[in-house]
Amino acid sequence: MPGKVLAKKGNVATIDYFGEKRHALSDLSDFSVGDYVYVQAGFVVKRIPKEEVEPTLAVWKDMMARLKKTDSERSKSIDRPRVSDRKLAALLSSAKDGKIPSREQLLSLLSLAETPSLDALFYTANAIRMRELSNSCCVHGIIEFSNYCSQRCAYCGISAKNPSLSRYRLSIGQIVDAARIACKDYGFQALVLQSGEDPFYSDERLVEIVRAVRKECQVVIFMSVGERSIDCFRKLYAAGARGVLLRFESSNPKIYSDMGKGDLASRISLLRELRSMGYLIITGALIGLPGQTDEDILNDILLTKELGAEMFSFGPFLPHPQTSLAKAKPPPISKVLAVLAAARFAQPDAKILVTTALETLDEDGREHALLSGANSLMINATPLEYRKLYSIYPNKAWVETPLAVEIRETISLLRSLGRAPTDLGVSKGFANGK
Ligand code: 5AD
Repeated sequence: MPGKVLAKKGNVATIDYFGEKRHALSDLSDFSVGDYVYVQAGFVVKRIPKEEVEPTLAVWKDMMARLKKTDSERSKSIDRPRVSDRKLAALLSSAKDGKIPSREQLLSLLSLAETPSLDALFYTANAIRMRELSNSCCVHGIIEFSNYCSQRCAYCGISAKNPSLSRYRLSIGQIVDAARIACKDYGFQALVLQSGEDPFYSDERLVEIVRAVRKECQVVIFMSVGERSIDCFRKLYAAGARGVLLRFESSNPKIYSDMGKGDLASRISLLRELRSMGYLIITGALIGLPGQTDEDILNDILLTKELGAEMFSFGPFLPHPQTSLAKAKPPPISKVLAVLAAARFAQPDAKILVTTALETLDEDGREHALLSGANSLMINATPLEYRKLYSIYPNKAWVETPLAVEIRETISLLRSLGRAPTDLGVSKGFANGK
């Protein structure tokens, strides 16, 4: 959606959207006060040519009003579930009015298991989403460019421990082609470039990829390549990357090490350094790892908040048949939705992602999550022939679906819910540099 630049101060621009003001970061694009621009993932990504402004604004103004009406009607059409528990009713009502629950209260929300209470939790999380972020839904593309991985995570199907997986790497040309299709043919303005931890891509190669994609496409690039040195991330930032997607996976050091992972403290300190370097951070944890308690999940949510994450990424653990956890059980969908809802309570203005893992766990997971506090999606823009090899968990959703169809289905769902695939401004904390 086009916005008009009202002011620029330091690297923060104030943008007007039909009377609503949002902040966005200005260092990825050239523009002046008075220009119309597109904003994605909190960055101004491009200026809109003068001749396109009028017609584009007219379409959006009309569409936005209709979508907001649908969002509000859809949200209210679900009857407000009645809860008999007075304490719970009071907690939900105060959260709806803007109060952030205490640790104990959040824990009580995570332990809800019965229908009317859970429905009331989802309903309230959706209302908080609407109050804070209206109907905007952040939609990123993701390109999985290598399934080689040097790590030996117990839960993951592309772990170095899995000898039966065919491995692939995309060349820089293939990555740029996929990015070009995503941004030029389909209009994506934010792309996640993801791979296993693959040493084949030296710092220089990664820098080359970021430069090549930036040269071709005006997009915000999020790197998701696991743990690399600070120096590497500094170079990637200089090359034009502005986000990092790196989950800490579990804030419980025992679970983290039981999963065959290295040092949790160093992963967390990397996330902190990346944030202070100026990266937007997408992070979070797996839901339902063996041995995980509600208290662990609460700590995962609070750590994500404390890390200043721009987006929460929490998805179910899905047992992969070629791992030692093949016989473990995935969490029920109600648990996953409760976690997304509790995250919305804990950080009302966060972007909260519907993960592909949730869509894999339940066909209607996307819709349920979008009505339980979530407001962000990722669409797989990996060339079709490689998708099923990026097998972090089995039966991954969308692996057979061409990009054009994925987009059509996504737009149709968003439209039916009254959500606009716009991503205006950064969360308040980030724009204020906090
Ligand atoms: N189920 C769900 N998510 C998984 N991931 C890895 N293995 C699984 C699994 N079996 C997630 C990790 C990682 C992301 C890329 O994929 O959380 O951060």
